[in-house]
Amino acid sequence: MHSKEVREVRLSWTGSNAYAQHLAAINEQRLIRAASDIYDTDGNLIITKGTPIDYEAVRRLIRHKLTRPLDADIEIDSVLGASSLFRRFHDVLRRFSDVKQAHENLRFVSEFEKIANRMQLPMLVSQKLTVMAIRQPITMDQTLLGAWFAVLVGRELGLEEKELPILYFAAVCRDMGMLHVDAKVLEGPQKGLFNPEEWKALQSHAVVSRMILEECEGLPERLLDAVSQHHENIDGTGYPSNLKDADLGELGQILSIADTIVALRVRKFRGSGRNLRDTQAALQVEVDTYREPVLSAASKVLSSTGLRRTTFHGYSNRQALVRGLYEGAQSLLECAEVLRSSIGILENETSKRSVTIQAYAKRLNHTLARSGLGDGAVVAWLEEVIHHPNDVALVDLTEIDLQQRELLWQFKRLYLNIQGTAERESLGPSTAIGQILVSMQNFLTELQRKQEDC
Ligand SMILES: [Fe+2]
Repeated sequence: MHSKEVREVRLSWTGSNAYAQHLAAINEQRLIRAASDIYDTDGNLIITKGTPIDYEAVRRLIRHKLTRPLDADIEIDSVLGASSLFRRFHDVLRRFSDVKQAHENLRFVSEFEKIANRMQLPMLVSQKLTVMAIRQPITMDQTLLGAWFAVLVGRELGLEEKELPILYFAAVCRDMGMLHVDAKVLEGPQKGLFNPEEWKALQSHAVVSRMILEECEGLPERLLDAVSQHHENIDGTGYPSNLKDADLGELGQILSIADTIVALRVRKFRGSGRNLRDTQAALQVEVDTYREPVLSAASKVLSSTGLRRTTFHGYSNRQALVRGLYEGAQSLLECAEVLRSSIGILENETSKRSVTIQAYAKRLNHTLARSGLGDGAVVAWLEEVIHHPNDVALVDLTEIDLQQRELLWQFKRLYLNIQGTAERESLGPSTAIGQILVSMQNFLTELQRKQEDC
Protein backbone atom coordinates (compact mmCIF):
# COMPACT_ATOMS: atom_id res chain seq x y z
CA MET A 1 0.00 0.00 0.00
CA HIS A 2 1.35 3.45 -0.92
CA SER A 3 2.14 5.90 1.87
CA LYS A 4 -0.59 8.28 0.67
CA GLU A 5 -3.12 5.45 0.91
CA VAL A 6 -1.88 4.50 4.38
CA ARG A 7 -2.47 8.13 5.46
CA GLU A 8 -6.02 7.96 4.05
CA VAL A 9 -6.64 4.69 5.87
CA ARG A 10 -5.34 6.18 9.13
CA LEU A 11 -7.71 9.12 8.73
CA SER A 12 -10.64 6.81 8.03
CA TRP A 13 -9.81 4.87 11.16
CA THR A 14 -9.35 7.76 13.55
CA GLY A 15 -12.52 9.42 12.30
CA SER A 16 -14.41 6.23 11.50
CA ASN A 17 -18.13 6.86 11.07
CA ALA A 18 -18.76 3.15 10.62
CA TYR A 19 -17.34 2.28 14.02
CA ALA A 20 -19.14 5.12 15.80
CA GLN A 21 -22.41 3.86 14.30
CA HIS A 22 -21.70 0.37 15.67
CA LEU A 23 -21.17 1.86 19.13
CA ALA A 24 -24.43 3.80 19.02
CA ALA A 25 -26.34 0.68 17.96
CA ILE A 26 -24.81 -1.40 20.75
CA ASN A 27 -25.48 1.34 23.29
CA GLU A 28 -29.17 0.51 22.98
CA GLN A 29 -28.55 -2.86 24.71
CA ARG A 30 -25.25 -2.44 26.56
CA LEU A 31 -23.88 0.73 28.12
CA ILE A 32 -21.06 2.44 26.28
CA ARG A 33 -19.92 5.77 27.66
CA ALA A 34 -17.12 8.26 27.28
CA ALA A 35 -14.31 7.28 29.65
CA SER A 36 -12.88 10.81 29.53
CA ASP A 37 -13.69 14.18 28.02
CA ILE A 38 -13.43 14.01 24.22
CA TYR A 39 -11.97 16.99 22.35
CA ASP A 40 -11.62 17.85 18.70
CA THR A 41 -8.32 18.95 17.13
CA ASP A 42 -9.22 22.63 17.72
CA GLY A 43 -9.47 21.96 21.45
CA ASN A 44 -13.28 22.11 21.63
CA LEU A 45 -14.95 19.79 24.14
CA ILE A 46 -17.28 17.53 22.13
CA ILE A 47 -18.42 14.97 24.69
CA THR A 48 -17.99 15.05 28.46
CA LYS A 49 -16.81 12.10 30.51
CA GLY A 50 -19.60 9.66 31.36
CA THR A 51 -21.85 10.60 28.41
CA PRO A 52 -23.50 7.52 26.82
CA ILE A 53 -22.32 7.04 23.22
CA ASP A 54 -25.79 7.01 21.65
CA TYR A 55 -26.87 8.18 18.20
CA GLU A 56 -27.00 11.80 19.35
CA ALA A 57 -23.43 11.61 20.69
CA VAL A 58 -22.29 9.93 17.47
CA ARG A 59 -23.88 12.69 15.38
CA ARG A 60 -21.76 15.18 17.32
CA LEU A 61 -18.61 13.06 17.17
CA ILE A 62 -18.61 12.46 13.43
CA ARG A 63 -18.89 16.18 12.70
CA HIS A 64 -15.49 16.75 14.31
CA LYS A 65 -11.94 15.63 13.78
CA LEU A 66 -10.93 13.98 17.03
CA THR A 67 -7.52 14.24 18.63
CA ARG A 68 -7.23 10.46 18.93
CA PRO A 69 -9.14 7.32 17.97
CA LEU A 70 -12.51 7.07 19.66
CA ASP A 71 -11.57 3.71 21.27
CA ALA A 72 -9.12 5.43 23.56
CA ASP A 73 -11.92 7.42 25.18
CA ILE A 74 -14.75 4.95 25.63
CA GLU A 75 -15.61 2.09 27.96
CA ILE A 76 -17.98 -0.76 27.24
CA ASP A 77 -19.75 -2.86 29.87
CA SER A 78 -18.82 -6.59 30.04
CA VAL A 79 -16.20 -6.90 27.31
CA LEU A 80 -14.97 -10.24 26.00
CA GLY A 81 -11.78 -11.59 27.56
CA ALA A 82 -9.67 -14.58 26.50
CA SER A 83 -11.80 -17.12 28.40
CA SER A 84 -15.15 -15.74 27.22
CA LEU A 85 -13.77 -15.76 23.68
CA PHE A 86 -12.89 -19.41 24.07
CA ARG A 87 -16.42 -20.18 25.33
CA ARG A 88 -17.74 -18.43 22.27
CA PHE A 89 -15.58 -20.69 20.09
CA HIS A 90 -17.49 -23.63 21.57
CA ASP A 91 -20.80 -21.91 20.76
CA VAL A 92 -19.59 -21.63 17.16
CA LEU A 93 -18.73 -25.35 17.11
CA ARG A 94 -22.33 -26.12 18.04
CA ARG A 95 -23.41 -24.44 14.81
CA PHE A 96 -20.73 -26.15 12.67
CA SER A 97 -21.05 -29.82 13.57
CA ASP A 98 -18.43 -30.90 11.00
CA VAL A 99 -15.85 -28.59 12.59
CA LYS A 100 -16.82 -29.86 16.04
CA GLN A 101 -16.30 -33.42 14.86
CA ALA A 102 -12.94 -32.46 13.32
CA HIS A 103 -11.88 -30.72 16.54
CA GLU A 104 -12.59 -33.86 18.54
CA ASN A 105 -11.06 -36.24 15.98
CA LEU A 106 -7.86 -34.16 15.85
CA ARG A 107 -7.43 -34.69 19.61
CA PHE A 108 -6.77 -31.01 20.02
CA VAL A 109 -9.36 -29.99 22.58
CA SER A 110 -7.31 -29.41 25.75
CA GLU A 111 -4.19 -28.20 23.90
CA PHE A 112 -6.23 -25.59 22.05
CA GLU A 113 -7.85 -24.41 25.28
CA LYS A 114 -4.42 -23.82 26.81
CA ILE A 115 -3.22 -21.90 23.75
CA ALA A 116 -6.38 -19.79 23.59
CA ASN A 117 -6.04 -18.75 27.23
CA ARG A 118 -2.29 -18.11 27.18
CA MET A 119 -2.34 -14.45 26.03
CA GLN A 120 -4.11 -11.61 27.83
CA LEU A 121 -6.23 -9.48 25.50
CA PRO A 122 -5.45 -5.75 25.72
CA MET A 123 -8.56 -3.70 26.59
CA LEU A 124 -8.65 -2.16 23.12
CA VAL A 125 -8.77 -5.62 21.51
CA SER A 126 -11.42 -6.79 23.99
CA GLN A 127 -13.57 -3.80 23.08
CA LYS A 128 -13.20 -4.36 19.37
CA LEU A 129 -14.02 -8.07 19.61
CA THR A 130 -17.05 -7.30 21.79
CA VAL A 131 -18.35 -4.91 19.15
CA MET A 132 -17.61 -7.49 16.44
CA ALA A 133 -19.45 -10.25 18.30
CA ILE A 134 -22.59 -8.10 18.48
CA ARG A 135 -22.47 -6.29 15.15
CA GLN A 136 -20.69 -8.69 12.81
CA PRO A 137 -21.42 -12.17 14.21
CA ILE A 138 -20.49 -14.03 11.02
CA THR A 139 -17.11 -12.30 10.92
CA MET A 140 -16.75 -13.28 14.57
CA ASP A 141 -17.46 -16.93 13.73
CA GLN A 142 -14.84 -16.77 10.98
CA THR A 143 -12.39 -15.07 13.32
CA LEU A 144 -12.60 -17.87 15.87
CA LEU A 145 -12.66 -20.75 13.40
CA GLY A 146 -9.73 -19.18 11.55
CA ALA A 147 -7.77 -18.90 14.80
CA TRP A 148 -8.42 -22.57 15.50
CA PHE A 149 -7.35 -23.66 12.02
CA ALA A 150 -4.30 -21.39 11.99
CA VAL A 151 -3.03 -22.96 15.20
CA LEU A 152 -3.57 -26.43 13.74
CA VAL A 153 -1.52 -25.51 10.67
CA GLY A 154 1.17 -23.94 12.86
CA ARG A 155 1.35 -27.11 14.93
CA GLU A 156 1.52 -29.25 11.78
CA LEU A 157 4.39 -27.09 10.52
CA GLY A 158 6.24 -27.73 13.76
CA LEU A 159 6.28 -24.11 14.99
CA GLU A 160 7.83 -23.61 18.41
CA GLU A 161 5.31 -23.94 21.22
CA LYS A 162 5.64 -20.27 22.20
CA GLU A 163 4.63 -19.20 18.68
CA LEU A 164 1.20 -20.83 18.79
CA PRO A 165 -0.43 -18.32 21.22
CA ILE A 166 1.00 -15.50 19.08
CA LEU A 167 -0.50 -17.09 15.99
CA TYR A 168 -3.84 -17.48 17.79
CA PHE A 169 -3.81 -13.86 18.95
CA ALA A 170 -2.94 -12.58 15.45
CA ALA A 171 -5.74 -14.65 13.93
CA VAL A 172 -8.25 -13.38 16.45
CA CYS A 173 -7.29 -9.78 15.64
CA ARG A 174 -6.95 -10.07 11.87
CA ASP A 175 -10.36 -8.72 10.91
CA MET A 176 -10.94 -6.07 13.60
CA GLY A 177 -10.49 -3.48 10.85
CA MET A 178 -13.77 -4.69 9.30
CA LEU A 179 -15.54 -2.72 12.04
CA HIS A 180 -14.29 0.44 10.36
CA VAL A 181 -15.51 -0.42 6.87
CA ASP A 182 -18.75 1.14 5.72
CA ALA A 183 -21.71 -1.23 6.16
CA LYS A 184 -22.77 -0.75 2.51
CA VAL A 185 -19.40 -2.03 1.28
CA LEU A 186 -19.61 -5.06 3.57
CA GLU A 187 -22.98 -5.98 2.09
CA GLY A 188 -21.12 -6.64 -1.17
CA PRO A 189 -21.51 -5.06 -4.58
CA GLN A 190 -25.12 -4.32 -5.50
CA LYS A 191 -24.44 -5.62 -8.99
CA GLY A 192 -21.36 -7.18 -10.54
CA LEU A 193 -18.03 -6.46 -8.91
CA PHE A 194 -16.83 -3.95 -6.35
CA ASN A 195 -15.85 -0.60 -7.81
CA PRO A 196 -12.25 0.50 -7.07
CA GLU A 197 -13.31 2.69 -4.12
CA GLU A 198 -15.31 -0.10 -2.48
CA TRP A 199 -12.53 -2.63 -3.10
CA LYS A 200 -9.98 -0.26 -1.58
CA ALA A 201 -12.21 0.30 1.48
CA LEU A 202 -12.56 -3.44 1.96
CA GLN A 203 -8.84 -4.03 1.56
CA SER A 204 -8.08 -1.35 4.14
CA HIS A 205 -9.30 -3.66 6.93
CA ALA A 206 -5.95 -5.49 7.11
CA VAL A 207 -4.09 -2.20 7.60
CA VAL A 208 -6.61 -0.90 10.12
CA SER A 209 -6.38 -4.14 12.12
CA ARG A 210 -2.64 -3.60 12.32
CA MET A 211 -3.04 0.06 13.31
CA ILE A 212 -5.33 -0.96 16.16
CA LEU A 213 -2.68 -3.39 17.42
CA GLU A 214 0.01 -0.72 17.11
CA GLU A 215 -1.92 1.16 19.78
CA CYS A 216 -1.42 -1.77 22.18
CA GLU A 217 1.96 -1.86 23.82
CA GLY A 218 4.48 -4.67 23.70
CA LEU A 219 3.15 -6.80 20.85
CA PRO A 220 5.86 -8.47 18.75
CA GLU A 221 6.46 -7.14 15.25
CA ARG A 222 5.89 -10.56 13.66
CA LEU A 223 2.39 -10.59 15.14
CA LEU A 224 1.60 -7.19 13.60
CA ASP A 225 3.09 -8.34 10.27
CA ALA A 226 0.98 -11.50 10.31
CA VAL A 227 -2.17 -9.39 10.71
CA SER A 228 -1.35 -6.95 7.90
CA GLN A 229 -0.27 -9.83 5.62
CA HIS A 230 -3.27 -12.10 6.06
CA HIS A 231 -4.54 -11.35 2.53
CA GLU A 232 -1.18 -11.27 0.75
CA ASN A 233 -0.27 -14.04 -1.71
CA ILE A 234 3.18 -15.35 -2.63
CA ASP A 235 2.62 -14.38 -6.28
CA GLY A 236 2.10 -10.71 -5.32
CA THR A 237 -1.62 -10.66 -6.23
CA GLY A 238 -2.80 -10.19 -2.66
CA TYR A 239 -3.53 -7.02 -0.71
CA PRO A 240 -2.99 -4.44 0.70
CA SER A 241 0.65 -4.18 -0.42
CA ASN A 242 1.07 -6.81 -3.19
CA LEU A 243 3.93 -8.32 -1.23
CA LYS A 244 5.70 -11.33 -2.71
CA ASP A 245 7.02 -14.58 -1.26
CA ALA A 246 10.36 -13.22 0.01
CA ASP A 247 8.62 -10.37 1.89
CA LEU A 248 6.04 -12.54 3.62
CA GLY A 249 6.39 -13.96 7.11
CA GLU A 250 5.41 -17.51 7.95
CA LEU A 251 2.70 -16.48 10.42
CA GLY A 252 1.02 -14.27 7.80
CA GLN A 253 0.99 -17.15 5.33
CA ILE A 254 -0.62 -19.41 7.92
CA LEU A 255 -3.27 -16.79 8.73
CA SER A 256 -3.91 -16.34 5.03
CA ILE A 257 -4.60 -20.02 4.34
CA ALA A 258 -6.68 -20.39 7.51
CA ASP A 259 -8.69 -17.33 6.47
CA THR A 260 -9.35 -18.78 3.01
CA ILE A 261 -10.43 -22.18 4.31
CA VAL A 262 -12.77 -20.69 6.86
CA ALA A 263 -14.22 -18.18 4.38
CA LEU A 264 -14.98 -21.11 2.07
CA ARG A 265 -16.59 -23.14 4.84
CA VAL A 266 -18.57 -20.32 6.44
CA ARG A 267 -19.53 -18.12 3.50
CA LYS A 268 -19.15 -19.89 0.18
CA PHE A 269 -20.45 -23.26 1.46
CA ARG A 270 -23.30 -21.69 3.41
CA GLY A 271 -26.49 -23.70 2.89
CA SER A 272 -24.73 -26.07 0.48
CA GLY A 273 -24.19 -29.08 2.77
CA ARG A 274 -20.46 -29.04 2.00
CA ASN A 275 -18.15 -29.56 4.95
CA LEU A 276 -14.73 -28.42 6.13
CA ARG A 277 -12.99 -31.33 4.38
CA ASP A 278 -14.38 -30.16 1.00
CA THR A 279 -12.17 -27.06 1.17
CA GLN A 280 -9.24 -29.36 0.37
CA ALA A 281 -10.31 -29.54 -3.28
CA ALA A 282 -10.29 -25.75 -3.54
CA LEU A 283 -6.77 -25.63 -2.08
CA GLN A 284 -5.48 -27.69 -4.99
CA VAL A 285 -5.85 -24.65 -7.27
CA GLU A 286 -4.06 -22.29 -4.84
CA VAL A 287 -0.52 -23.42 -5.71
CA ASP A 288 0.60 -19.87 -6.49
CA THR A 289 -1.06 -18.31 -3.47
CA TYR A 290 0.65 -20.09 -0.57
CA ARG A 291 4.09 -21.51 0.06
CA GLU A 292 4.19 -25.22 -0.55
CA PRO A 293 4.90 -26.27 3.09
CA VAL A 294 1.96 -24.16 4.31
CA LEU A 295 -0.32 -25.59 1.63
CA SER A 296 0.76 -29.15 2.43
CA ALA A 297 0.33 -28.62 6.17
CA ALA A 298 -3.21 -27.26 5.71
CA SER A 299 -4.08 -30.13 3.41
CA LYS A 300 -2.68 -32.63 5.90
CA VAL A 301 -4.75 -31.12 8.72
CA LEU A 302 -7.87 -31.44 6.57
CA SER A 303 -7.02 -35.08 5.77
CA SER A 304 -6.60 -35.80 9.47
CA THR A 305 -10.01 -34.42 10.44
CA GLY A 306 -11.66 -37.80 9.86
CA LEU A 307 -14.35 -36.04 7.79
CA ARG A 308 -15.38 -37.50 4.45
CA ARG A 309 -15.65 -35.45 1.28
CA THR A 310 -19.30 -34.72 0.48
CA THR A 311 -21.10 -34.85 -2.85
CA PHE A 312 -23.25 -31.77 -2.40
CA HIS A 313 -23.51 -29.37 -5.32
CA GLY A 314 -25.78 -26.54 -6.29
CA TYR A 315 -27.49 -28.27 -9.23
CA SER A 316 -30.85 -30.06 -9.35
CA ASN A 317 -29.33 -33.43 -10.32
CA ARG A 318 -26.20 -35.11 -11.60
CA GLN A 319 -27.05 -34.39 -15.27
CA ALA A 320 -27.43 -30.67 -14.53
CA LEU A 321 -24.15 -30.74 -12.61
CA VAL A 322 -22.29 -32.21 -15.58
CA ARG A 323 -23.83 -29.61 -17.90
CA GLY A 324 -22.76 -26.89 -15.46
CA LEU A 325 -19.24 -28.30 -15.39
CA TYR A 326 -19.16 -28.37 -19.18
CA GLU A 327 -20.12 -24.68 -19.30
CA GLY A 328 -17.64 -23.93 -16.52
CA ALA A 329 -14.88 -25.65 -18.51
CA GLN A 330 -15.75 -23.57 -21.58
CA SER A 331 -15.58 -20.42 -19.45
CA LEU A 332 -12.15 -21.43 -18.18
CA LEU A 333 -11.04 -22.04 -21.75
CA GLU A 334 -12.08 -18.46 -22.60
CA CYS A 335 -10.45 -17.28 -19.38
CA ALA A 336 -7.14 -18.87 -20.49
CA GLU A 337 -7.52 -17.14 -23.88
CA VAL A 338 -8.08 -13.72 -22.22
CA LEU A 339 -4.99 -14.30 -20.07
CA ARG A 340 -2.86 -15.34 -23.05
CA SER A 341 -3.91 -12.30 -25.07
CA SER A 342 -3.28 -10.04 -22.03
CA ILE A 343 0.22 -11.47 -21.69
CA GLY A 344 0.75 -10.80 -25.43
CA ILE A 345 -0.53 -7.18 -25.21
CA LEU A 346 1.97 -6.50 -22.42
CA GLU A 347 4.89 -8.20 -24.20
CA ASN A 348 6.48 -4.96 -25.44
CA GLU A 349 5.55 -2.83 -22.45
CA THR A 350 8.46 -1.94 -20.19
CA SER A 351 6.88 0.00 -17.31
CA LYS A 352 7.16 -1.60 -13.89
CA ARG A 353 3.39 -1.86 -13.48
CA SER A 354 2.99 -3.60 -16.88
CA VAL A 355 5.74 -6.07 -16.04
CA THR A 356 4.06 -6.77 -12.70
CA ILE A 357 0.62 -7.25 -14.22
CA GLN A 358 2.02 -9.49 -16.91
CA ALA A 359 3.68 -11.58 -14.20
CA TYR A 360 0.28 -11.89 -12.41
CA ALA A 361 -1.41 -12.97 -15.64
CA LYS A 362 1.35 -15.53 -16.29
CA ARG A 363 1.00 -16.90 -12.79
CA LEU A 364 -2.74 -17.40 -13.13
CA ASN A 365 -2.26 -18.92 -16.56
CA HIS A 366 0.23 -21.28 -14.98
CA THR A 367 -2.21 -22.20 -12.17
CA LEU A 368 -4.92 -22.80 -14.75
CA ALA A 369 -2.59 -25.01 -16.82
CA ARG A 370 -1.47 -26.96 -13.75
CA SER A 371 -5.06 -27.60 -12.74
CA GLY A 372 -5.73 -29.06 -16.19
CA LEU A 373 -9.20 -27.45 -16.05
CA GLY A 374 -8.59 -24.71 -18.60
CA ASP A 375 -7.81 -26.75 -21.71
CA GLY A 376 -9.81 -28.19 -24.58
CA ALA A 377 -9.30 -31.80 -23.50
CA VAL A 378 -11.43 -31.23 -20.39
CA VAL A 379 -14.20 -29.65 -22.45
CA ALA A 380 -14.12 -32.65 -24.82
CA TRP A 381 -14.11 -35.07 -21.86
CA LEU A 382 -17.06 -33.36 -20.21
CA GLU A 383 -18.92 -33.45 -23.52
CA GLU A 384 -18.58 -37.23 -23.30
CA VAL A 385 -19.56 -37.29 -19.63
CA ILE A 386 -22.81 -35.46 -20.49
CA HIS A 387 -23.88 -38.66 -22.31
CA HIS A 388 -22.65 -40.99 -19.55
CA PRO A 389 -22.93 -38.99 -16.31
CA ASN A 390 -22.82 -42.09 -14.13
CA ASP A 391 -19.37 -43.12 -15.37
CA VAL A 392 -17.64 -40.61 -13.09
CA ALA A 393 -17.84 -40.69 -9.29
CA LEU A 394 -20.08 -37.91 -7.97
CA VAL A 395 -17.44 -36.89 -5.43
CA ASP A 396 -15.00 -36.19 -8.29
CA LEU A 397 -17.55 -34.17 -10.23
CA THR A 398 -18.35 -32.00 -7.20
CA GLU A 399 -14.63 -31.49 -6.64
CA ILE A 400 -14.24 -30.19 -10.21
CA ASP A 401 -17.17 -27.84 -9.59
CA LEU A 402 -15.40 -26.38 -6.55
CA GLN A 403 -12.11 -26.00 -8.39
CA GLN A 404 -13.73 -24.29 -11.36
CA ARG A 405 -15.38 -21.78 -9.02
CA GLU A 406 -12.10 -21.09 -7.28
CA LEU A 407 -10.22 -20.53 -10.53
CA LEU A 408 -12.88 -18.09 -11.71
CA TRP A 409 -12.62 -16.30 -8.35
CA GLN A 410 -8.85 -16.00 -8.85
CA PHE A 411 -9.52 -14.43 -12.25
CA LYS A 412 -11.91 -11.93 -10.61
CA ARG A 413 -9.31 -11.16 -7.97
CA LEU A 414 -6.76 -10.45 -10.69
CA TYR A 415 -9.26 -8.21 -12.47
CA LEU A 416 -9.91 -6.21 -9.30
CA ASN A 417 -6.19 -5.87 -8.76
CA ILE A 418 -5.59 -4.50 -12.26
CA GLN A 419 -8.66 -2.28 -11.97
CA GLY A 420 -7.16 -0.76 -8.82
CA THR A 421 -3.88 -0.04 -10.62
CA ALA A 422 -5.69 1.54 -13.58
CA GLU A 423 -7.76 3.73 -11.29
CA ARG A 424 -4.80 4.79 -9.15
CA GLU A 425 -2.67 5.71 -12.15
CA SER A 426 -5.51 7.08 -14.32
CA LEU A 427 -4.90 4.59 -17.14
CA GLY A 428 -7.57 4.93 -19.83
CA PRO A 429 -8.92 2.23 -22.20
CA SER A 430 -6.40 3.18 -24.92
CA THR A 431 -3.43 2.08 -22.78
CA ALA A 432 -2.22 -1.52 -22.79
CA ILE A 433 -3.48 -2.07 -19.24
CA GLY A 434 -6.77 -0.38 -20.14
CA GLN A 435 -7.22 -2.79 -23.08
CA ILE A 436 -6.61 -5.79 -20.86
CA LEU A 437 -9.09 -4.48 -18.35
CA VAL A 438 -11.77 -4.12 -21.04
CA SER A 439 -11.29 -7.70 -22.28
CA MET A 440 -11.35 -9.07 -18.72
CA GLN A 441 -14.45 -7.05 -17.92
CA ASN A 442 -16.20 -8.27 -21.09
CA PHE A 443 -15.42 -11.84 -20.09
CA LEU A 444 -16.72 -11.33 -16.53
CA THR A 445 -19.88 -9.56 -17.70
CA GLU A 446 -20.62 -12.41 -20.11
CA LEU A 447 -19.91 -14.95 -17.37
CA GLN A 448 -22.29 -13.23 -15.01
CA ARG A 449 -24.98 -13.12 -17.70
CA LYS A 450 -24.59 -16.88 -18.27
CA GLN A 451 -24.73 -17.59 -14.54
CA GLU A 452 -27.89 -15.51 -14.18
CA ASP A 453 -29.48 -17.43 -17.06
CA CYS A 454 -28.83 -20.75 -15.30
FE1 LIG B 1 -9.42 -10.31 6.46
